[in-house]
Amino acid sequence: MSNTVVLITGGSGLVGQAIRHVIETEPEGSRFGKKPGETWIFASSSEGDLRDPAQTRQLFEKYKPTHVIHLAALVGGLFKNMKYKASRLTFLRDNILINDNVLQTSYERKAQKLISCLSTCVFPDKVEYPLDEHKIHSGPPHESNFGYAHAKRMVDVQNHAYKEEFGCNFTSAIPTNVFGPHDNFDLEDSHVIPGLIHKCYLAKKNNTPFVVSGTGKPLRQFIFSWDLAKLFIWMLREYDDVEPVILSVGEDEEVSIKEVADAIVKAVNFRGDYTFDTSRADGQFRKPASNKKLLTLMNGFEFTPFEKALDITVDWFLKNYDTARTGKV
Ligand SMILES: NC(=O)c1ccc[n+]([C@@H]2O[C@H](COP(=O)([O-])OP(=O)(O)OC[C@H]3O[C@@H](n4cnc5c(N)ncnc54)[C@H](OP(=O)(O)O)[C@@H]3O)[C@@H](O)[C@H]2O)c1
Repeated sequence: MSNTVVLITGGSGLVGQAIRHVIETEPEGSRFGKKPGETWIFASSSEGDLRDPAQTRQLFEKYKPTHVIHLAALVGGLFKNMKYKASRLTFLRDNILINDNVLQTSYERKAQKLISCLSTCVFPDKVEYPLDEHKIHSGPPHESNFGYAHAKRMVDVQNHAYKEEFGCNFTSAIPTNVFGPHDNFDLEDSHVIPGLIHKCYLAKKNNTPFVVSGTGKPLRQFIFSWDLAKLFIWMLREYDDVEPVILSVGEDEEVSIKEVADAIVKAVNFRGDYTFDTSRADGQFRKPASNKKLLTLMNGFEFTPFEKALDITVDWFLKNYDTARTGKV
């Protein structure tokens, strides 16, 4: 790709910063490294509120992207979604507006390619496992995800319409649970890994017990953000189809919440009292997603071992505690 400008919306977030890390650290010219003639732009919301069509156009006018990786979204862990339940309309509308503006402006400004980001939590609540790319629309999402899931599903619908009507090279990626440096470590609004890292850190600092909600038994697939970044770069360069691709570790690489907590205790070097609060709800036992399509298309991919990825994340959190998103004001 020569004279390529890749615009990353949501470039200041967990996934955006991981793409920046990979592009800046992989050898130049390699499969995941920067290629000659490429410029990568990582846009945050301070450069333009993508809910607003005029600000979205301004951003595109400024950088004239030939390629777009669209990550910007109103996201939140389970609690944020629940807390906003009264205004789940906010999750629905903000994400619809952001997505519609980015897709329409990419079309108007003739971007050669656009990859948008869905999530495995947009899948139906009642569904046959493992999840695969064909099951996105086959039933309502979980109640707690109403707005986020419906808005994200619509991107797949729009991608097909833009492709049919205008031949646009638009597609979408479906990551599972992501973790890594630059995550949101807020104690209330974060996902499970950053939330537990922060909790364990505080338990060590304050000499208090480290209490993990639930039995620790549920299994989840977690993808390290730097691995996910490589998969986005692969999609950008090597995948040209409107149908989405699930970006995940394999079903055989699920880890239990207890394994997550054990690894955090080790990485934080926490030696105090460590227990599970079994009075708290566990959530679904498993929600496995298949990465068969991804691995077939890529001819295999080596994921970072979970413990190594967790060590990198904890290390980053400890070094960046003062500036990380921790919820403190
Ligand atoms: N984290 C996960 O486990 C996970 C799993 C599956 C899919 N995903 C998807 O991956 C994508 C990236 O998620 P992430 O975890 O990296 O999220 P994140 O760390 O919370 O980052 C969100 C990004 O979106 C930007 N943003 C939010 N509202 C915006 C607006 N109105 N206008 C412009 N920019 C806006 C934020 O900008 P500022 O910070 O500058 O405000 C930030 O750069 C999202 O589409 C998410 O749905 C995430």
